[in-house]
Amino acid sequence: MSTDYVSDNLALPDLSGHFPNMVAGDKTKATWPYFRKEIDHTWYVDRRDPQIGFINKDEAAILYANARLFAGKSGLEIGAWRGWSSCHLLAAGLKTLHIVEPKLADADWRREFAAAVEGVGASDRAIFVPGFSPAEVVRLGESGWRWSFAFIDGDHDADAPKIDALTTSRFLEPTAMILFHDLASPYVAAGLRALRGQGWRTLVYQTAQIMGAAWRGDIAPVRHTPDPKQKWRLPDHVADLAKGS
Ligand SMILES: C[S@@+](CC[C@H](N)C(=O)[O-])C[C@H]1O[C@@H](n2cnc3c(N)ncnc32)[C@H](O)[C@@H]1O
Repeated sequence: MSTDYVSDNLALPDLSGHFPNMVAGDKTKATWPYFRKEIDHTWYVDRRDPQIGFINKDEAAILYANARLFAGKSGLEIGAWRGWSSCHLLAAGLKTLHIVEPKLADADWRREFAAAVEGVGASDRAIFVPGFSPAEVVRLGESGWRWSFAFIDGDHDADAPKIDALTTSRFLEPTAMILFHDLASPYVAAGLRALRGQGWRTLVYQTAQIMGAAWRGDIAPVRHTPDPKQKWRLPDHVADLAKGS
């Protein structure tokens, strides 16, 4: 049976009570071609959509701890699904969080999402953006918004992650971080690599679906110890990024 793992130097709030339909997914039925079924950590899904995963507990702890470094500052999230990652970002104390997620255009979806955000006491800090990146990011950025922390977990295919990364980077503060989920996909890894090519420092977190951080300025991403019980391998497309910068 899969278990949850959290790096011994990290901790995270228990927000699962705000997600009553979140269950352990059946990894054997996952169809995403890059999905790392072999990592024995619980994969969480919403019981109504068993193919779309949430970040797992190890990854949520990394997200939460890095976002806490930016408590009191503005954040941006691209790809929020039902709000699990958003709630961790808000619980970390971001002053505002723009949540770019097309599903928020659906009234029922939005109502349920808003209830979870209210559950973490963050209704006044969450700004719902029911649309698509990069268009919505450009619209917000050109209207004057600047962010210190961004989490990208939206469209994972083709050039989309790279475009998200480069678009977001245009509107970030001098000290800033962009965190990615799902570097198991070469397309997502290309997003991190594009930032590295622009002079951002980068690192890779060995988690079930692999996270990556790009940062600049007066900040450093949190340390993470990969679960010593797993047999970790890195896909070839991440090898250069894992060397650090
Ligand atoms: C894997 S889910 C995100 C899971 C979420 N981060 C979590 O762990 O709780 C990916 C999400 O990206 C959204 N998405 C897809 N294309 C997008 C785009 N162009 N802009 C913003 N969101 C997008 C999808 O609707 C979906 O909700």
